[in-house]
Amino acid sequence: MKKRKIISMMLVMMMASALIAGCGSTAKNGGEAGNTGDKQQENAGGNKDKVVNVFTARHYDVDAKVYEEFTKQTGIKVNEVKGTAEELVERLKREGESTEADLFVTVDGGVLNYAKQNEVLQPIESASVLQNVPEQWRDKDNNWVGMATRARVIVYAKDRVKPEQLSTYEDLATDKWKGKVLVRSSSSLYNQSLLASFIELNGEQQAEEWAKGMVSNFARDPEGGDRDQAKAIAAKVGDVAIMNTYYVGQMLNSKDAEEVKVAENIGIFFPNQDTTGTHLNISGVGLTKYAKNKDNALKLIEFITGKDGQTILTQGSFEFPVNEAADKPELLNTWGEFKTQQIDFAKLGELNKKATEILTKVGWK
Ligand code: FE2
Repeated sequence: MKKRKIISMMLVMMMASALIAGCGSTAKNGGEAGNTGDKQQENAGGNKDKVVNVFTARHYDVDAKVYEEFTKQTGIKVNEVKGTAEELVERLKREGESTEADLFVTVDGGVLNYAKQNEVLQPIESASVLQNVPEQWRDKDNNWVGMATRARVIVYAKDRVKPEQLSTYEDLATDKWKGKVLVRSSSSLYNQSLLASFIELNGEQQAEEWAKGMVSNFARDPEGGDRDQAKAIAAKVGDVAIMNTYYVGQMLNSKDAEEVKVAENIGIFFPNQDTTGTHLNISGVGLTKYAKNKDNALKLIEFITGKDGQTILTQGSFEFPVNEAADKPELLNTWGEFKTQQIDFAKLGELNKKATEILTKVGWK
């Protein structure tokens, strides 16, 4: 009895850490630039008037370019402290009023909401930020605002699959795709949030049936990151994969000729256009509760969500801008408009535990 209690406590702890581990959590199985274990770059303090300190769980090189341009335009230096979202929220809690962090940046709406629930953020009071970011991409109390969005779509082998054969996420779990489906592991927050969205939209039972169907259609045991699923399509391991849109853009613009070739041979399909819409997630920024450089922090949020910041960000990451004024990459226009899931991002966090339980139960490795 006692042993069982300890095991269940351990499980709860493991799930909690899975919930808050952002992109960085994928490093161990994806080889994508995760930040876990990176030596934290600590350079807080200095001239109080000319600095802003950012705790960030995002793993994209372009963020530094956005910050550089901000410094060029304002003279305000940006210090990045990198870590997993879990580490950073815990640190904000532990440090309380003494924290040097002014901003918290991460991917995943569920994680952003987790930070809010842990009371480490405060409302962003800036008319221009509210103007830059439409209401649908903001926390209702403005504790965080979106900086970019990403869709989790179906990609397919152009030479073996016709887009007419594709329709919904649900269809991928039917017999017709047996042995042909590629997707990364259940430790990926991207998959956990995808399943959480299905729990919210279709109920727990249907979500579980979907996950079960997917597992029985896997072309191989899940391995690698999103890019590796595209590579496995090229290697004819499978014909269809679930992938975030921005990775396709990054691969098409990669310095690695092989990655470009892989990306050129896959098509992007936005599923569920006649039903619940394509799954969308968000990257965002929150103002920490005890921000000491609050004015500078607000200026940086204004910049990130403004036209220049949004243009630099999306040209480098191939995420979708939250501000329509951005000059987004032409590639994103070629993908066209698509219908997106309409759910509260907070639900992704609230349903993470349930989603993780289902993924484990159905044997999604
Ligand atoms: Fe990522």
